[in-house]
Amino acid sequence: MTSPRTRPWPVDLEGLGYGGDYNPEQWPVQTQLEDVELMQQAGVNIVSVGIFSWAMLEPREGEYDFDWLDAVLDRLHAAGIRVALATATASPPPWLTRYHPEILPELADGTVLGQGGRQAYSVSSPVFRDYALRMTRTMAERYADHPALALWHVDNELGCHVPHDFSQDAAVAFRRWLEARYGTVEALNAAWGTAFWSQRYDTFDEVLPPRTAPTYANPTQQLDFARYSSDELLTHYRALRDVLREVTPQVPTTTNLMASTGTKWMDYFSWADDLDVVANDHYTRAHDPAAHIELAFSADLTRGIAGGDPWILMEHSTSAVNWQPRNRTKAPGEMLRHSLSHVARGADSVMFFQWRQSAAGAEKFHSAMLPHAGTDTDVWRNTLTLGQALKALAPVRGSRVQADVAILFDYPAWWGTELDSHPSQDVTYVDQVTAWYRQLWHRGVTADIVSPREDLSSYRLVIVPTLYLVTDDGAARVAAAAAAGATVLVTYFSGIVDEHDRVRLGGYPGAFRELLGVRTEEFYALQAGERLTLDDGATADLWSEKTHLVGAEAMSTYTDGLLAGWPAVTRHAVGTGHAWYVGTRLDEVGASRLADTLLLESGVQPVVDAVPEGVEVVRRRGGEVGGGADASFLFVLNHTPEEAVVTARGVDLLTGTAADGEVRVAPHGVAVVQES
Ligand code: GAL
Repeated sequence: MTSPRTRPWPVDLEGLGYGGDYNPEQWPVQTQLEDVELMQQAGVNIVSVGIFSWAMLEPREGEYDFDWLDAVLDRLHAAGIRVALATATASPPPWLTRYHPEILPELADGTVLGQGGRQAYSVSSPVFRDYALRMTRTMAERYADHPALALWHVDNELGCHVPHDFSQDAAVAFRRWLEARYGTVEALNAAWGTAFWSQRYDTFDEVLPPRTAPTYANPTQQLDFARYSSDELLTHYRALRDVLREVTPQVPTTTNLMASTGTKWMDYFSWADDLDVVANDHYTRAHDPAAHIELAFSADLTRGIAGGDPWILMEHSTSAVNWQPRNRTKAPGEMLRHSLSHVARGADSVMFFQWRQSAAGAEKFHSAMLPHAGTDTDVWRNTLTLGQALKALAPVRGSRVQADVAILFDYPAWWGTELDSHPSQDVTYVDQVTAWYRQLWHRGVTADIVSPREDLSSYRLVIVPTLYLVTDDGAARVAAAAAAGATVLVTYFSGIVDEHDRVRLGGYPGAFRELLGVRTEEFYALQAGERLTLDDGATADLWSEKTHLVGAEAMSTYTDGLLAGWPAVTRHAVGTGHAWYVGTRLDEVGASRLADTLLLESGVQPVVDAVPEGVEVVRRRGGEVGGGADASFLFVLNHTPEEAVVTARGVDLLTGTAADGEVRVAPHGVAVVQES
């Protein structure tokens, strides 16, 4: 279990949160009146307001128009709907970029990103920061005592469109960040290895962001720029948050993250301590046939970021989105199933982008809770159904998910793995992580996705997929888990460099060599389509290594190619545990067999016996509202076209039906059994 930071969903709702982004400024008052009536019908109890309202609230510099927002908040309050109020700073109004074009962000090649979309600001611009702080203070002071105000929503998806800014302001801020990190330019030179290619810096003033260059930029410069960029976005959040805390200390603050397999550049594990509640946005990908598994990964990752605490699903979609090449309409049952998969994995609130589908603008073809076609629609009926379901699930609020398996996930390791000039461009980080996640998902085994900064001592199985970059501390935590009896799996191209991207000498996998009892002398990256066979009948591709046994035993060896006879998979007894190394990418046969072996060796069980294929089963325990510490909720989500039967005893909260030994879940259906 990850370490609780006791940060429960801080809003005084009766049960789970339900709602979405609400953008009333796009509609006449008559429509806004109807909105509130329909929200009540649907059981909506919280909405995010004002995210993109700056230009409407301050149409000219220093001239404010708050009347419309006052009326919206009053109306929502009268209807008993709470508000996650935005700082309104997510998109600067045109007058601001017109008078201060210097706030615009820049790409690595010098392209300046213009006004006309959204998020057209440099997060390092002192001018923009001043304007954003002023707007934030104005919002905070105006609504400090408004009874609808439940939560502050800072900016929106910080870094979504502009994770990196290479502008002059960014260069100044980057240098400041580097000075704080290294103290002296000599220390920077040592860390970056600038003796190579005549890159030695004489003063911090010579250092730049890694702008487009004739060839590979210094890898540690790239890595530090990624760290700085994530920190800089967090710094912006903190600055705005501090104003909110000063004016409204009683109101919790958050910002919506985008934790998923697709968001690489924000180190959310390092953001979590600054959020009063972790909030996440998640959208499935139309082209992914296993989108529900990617969704589950994202939810488990969000829970990991939240240190195991309940979190808020701040945005997802009722049906199709508008920003993919071909946007997929959700199938019957899918919206409810997806929503409850987030809840099963720790969400105490389900919210959408957005309440009412826009009639104009770039997102008019993005689904919403209330579609263009009105209330006589599948989408609206789904909105009503979900509202009823979430109401019935009120007892779940505050309960927690427990897992015996940790999968290590680290943003700097992701950045490091995918730097240029590596042995193979085909080693992509998330693919290695999700391959092992999928093995567990299909077996009904719950995993926590945790940072190597977490204590791992409570896990029985620790999976370390391709952790190219690892600190001494991170490696020590993995080793300690094995010594204390866990089974540990480390996969190829792990432990290679320290936090400065400097190779750990003496043989690979550097930081994990001793733990694994192996020493690799050279990598043998494989060509596209090249495949090796192993003596246990599996095959492997992508990567191989010439690995010597230094205490470990070979569990399988290559039978062909340059490494015939050399170990592919090894196992090393350590303390009361075991450390396994996989020096290649196993095919499905090999990976699946290894997953079974690791679960058996570690004694980790699925959530219930015999989880049918394609059925998701997750348990939450405890809670603030329901049965207290002993309560237990079994979520069964049937992603298949067949009826699913799962062992359970208790009452299905969604239907009130007793489960007397088993629960039968309709094709594509859901059940949530409060276990007796
Ligand atoms: C999010 C964003 C929302 C909306 C949504 C569409 O990235 O926060 O404002 O654009 O995507 O899917």
